[in-house]
Amino acid sequence: MKLKHIAVATMAATALFNITAQASEVEVLHYWTSGGEAKSVAELKKMMEAKGITWKDFAVAGGGGENAMTALKARVIAGSAPTAAQIKGPSIQEWGKEGVLANIDAAAIEGKWDASLPKVVSSIMKYQGHYVAAPVNVHRVNWLWVNPEVLKKAGAKAPGNWAEFFDAADKIKKAGMIAIAHGGQPWQDATVFESVALGVGGADFYKKAIVQLDPASLTGPTMIKTFDTLAKIKTYIDKGAAGRDWNLATAMVINGKAGMQFMGDWAKGEFTAAGKVPGKDYLCLTAPGTEKAFTFNIDSLTMFKVKDDQQAAQLSLASAVMSPEFQEVFNLNKGSIPARSGVSRAKFDSCAIKSMNDMEATSASGGLVPSFAHGMAIDSAKAGAIQDVIAKFMNSNMTSQAAVVALAKAAKTR
Ligand code: GAL
Repeated sequence: MKLKHIAVATMAATALFNITAQASEVEVLHYWTSGGEAKSVAELKKMMEAKGITWKDFAVAGGGGENAMTALKARVIAGSAPTAAQIKGPSIQEWGKEGVLANIDAAAIEGKWDASLPKVVSSIMKYQGHYVAAPVNVHRVNWLWVNPEVLKKAGAKAPGNWAEFFDAADKIKKAGMIAIAHGGQPWQDATVFESVALGVGGADFYKKAIVQLDPASLTGPTMIKTFDTLAKIKTYIDKGAAGRDWNLATAMVINGKAGMQFMGDWAKGEFTAAGKVPGKDYLCLTAPGTEKAFTFNIDSLTMFKVKDDQQAAQLSLASAVMSPEFQEVFNLNKGSIPARSGVSRAKFDSCAIKSMNDMEATSASGGLVPSFAHGMAIDSAKAGAIQDVIAKFMNSNMTSQAAVVALAKAAKTR
């Protein structure tokens, strides 16, 4: 990301922006536009308005946030960065290097963030030792969402491993329903890929191959097996999947058109918004073979430098995001779990409690790994190149052997 060469345009646009900006206003860029997501973000808007701060919504549709990041770059280049944007993982460091992020230590010190965040979370929120972002949640990615009614109709049982998974998929398909709900978009393909890699190879393999990008692990037999499994999964996805949004795929599981979906727990936000009850109307299972691992995806609002008269509103936004009240209500709607400690578990459902317990257990066992598909594991250039390889594999008859070679090459992208 090279933003500096357009400094002149930036200065001109900044002058314009300063005239239009209001002191008690926060503009927040995000891509929370599905039913469950919109409900979640509305809670933050409500909280800010209760403090007398105007909420300017900068929502950019498109799951996984690719469109949102394009819009953000254009705005920063034009010198009119929003107050905050939904940026996460290593990208926070990339933006920090551009010199455009705000130091929000004042809010962090007052709210004792260091004491209430696990290290794995707080370290991502800091640039050169200073807080520049506030975490809103922890999403788990390695889930399989299942409609038990579909299983029943097909005479299948809830899968606990790959053999059972493919057995259930066969039975659902034979019974005339769609076995796997999927949307053919590169980030969704990558989401399935990482759960398969984790389920086939385990957490140590995942770390070596997908986080450390070790060439031997990227091209070895376990990665071949990962792509072979992915190729098999493809045969259970319907023809209409091309370009389908993730929440429409989730809707297929909700209404019984399809049996299962690999997706992070923002999918639960859709089940919740539809009034569905976990354990009864739907099952949240860990993706086959991933019971002892946890792919984390931490959403955060990253703060951009603002004029002096807007800093109070920005710090107030950061404090609101980290408040236990917000972390509770936001995550009840979003499907995720609070990023901070000190939030009561009382109102959370069984899937969220499982996620909380598993995060703790995997943090101790070494099974807690960053989600590659959701921008937590590697820098954006490498992640983009790897995602392209996976998308190509999903949309062609590329062999697993060719895929691993392309994967190792993509991992060298700078
Ligand atoms: C993830 C993001 C989630 C959710 C999802 C679908 O990357 O962390 O909050 O928005 O994409 O867009």
